[in-house]
Amino acid sequence: MTSLRFIVLGAAAGGGLPQWNCNCANCAAARDPSSGLKPQTQSSLAVSVDGERWAVFNASPDIRQQILQTPALHPKALRHSPIESIVITNADVDHIGGLLTVREKQPFSLYTTSAIGRVLDDNPIFRVLDPDHVRRRTIRLDEQFEPLAGVEARIFAVPGKVALFLEEGEPELGLEGEQTIGIEFLAGEKRAYYIPGCATLPDWLTERIRGADLVFFDGTVFTDDEMITAGTGIKTGQRMGHMAISGEDGSLARLASLDIGRLIYVHINNTNPVWRNGPERAAVEAAGMAVAHDGMEISLD
Ligand code: MLT
Ligand code: MN
Ligand code: ZN
Repeated sequence: MTSLRFIVLGAAAGGGLPQWNCNCANCAAARDPSSGLKPQTQSSLAVSVDGERWAVFNASPDIRQQILQTPALHPKALRHSPIESIVITNADVDHIGGLLTVREKQPFSLYTTSAIGRVLDDNPIFRVLDPDHVRRRTIRLDEQFEPLAGVEARIFAVPGKVALFLEEGEPELGLEGEQTIGIEFLAGEKRAYYIPGCATLPDWLTERIRGADLVFFDGTVFTDDEMITAGTGIKTGQRMGHMAISGEDGSLARLASLDIGRLIYVHINNTNPVWRNGPERAAVEAAGMAVAHDGMEISLD
């Protein structure tokens, strides 16, 4: 019987917790060891069947630290890595920046859609990934692939937008294509999803994930205008391509009724109140959902 093992390598959204230039209540608390709020690294998830060979979903700029704090990902020989593949779900910096860290001639497979692959190709700095060692694989929407022997996965378009650094004027929000994808994992009878960025939850998407055993979902902001209210930015969650947790059309309300075994929020922005105990976190937990943290492990047996 195949089991899937997941480790949240980074629970935070772009910027991490604390973000280098932020002193909001959460960031300040994360710098204070007595606060109980631990620093959290940027958006990434590791998946394995046997605990020895791993696929990493999103190459966070913090990947070096994430590998360091995750013994399962330490080298087991003079030159070795348990990471056999890296899969990218969008081309934002928090998901591709770490590719520059894993440039030391270690063989692995790099899976992207053709649109995300083009972003890498258009930025010559990614040529540090020597093609003699890094096998580039293009994956198509809705086709099955094996990021790791024994792990069946499928990617699908989710509502999103182009990467921030590719925006020209006002980007199309809620775009469904190859720029923002979710991952479906299949192991025996078990079904799991990783959707770290999602602008809306249309009916086709709720139907797709209904009854899943495990869903990691976009928890960037609790309220759409949270960054504005916190005084840390001028953008809404929607403008960043992320739906809010709260509200009538928020992910909490939309996901709660889908009979999902475990629901875990990931890609959490540093302004999000769910990082700390309070009414917002209580609302998430009362709905049977969880807030991820670095190092969180989940097994589906
Ligand atoms: C996002 O998820 O909105 C991005 O990570 C933003 C960014 O690239 O900083
Ligand atoms: Mn992001
Ligand atoms: Zn902050």
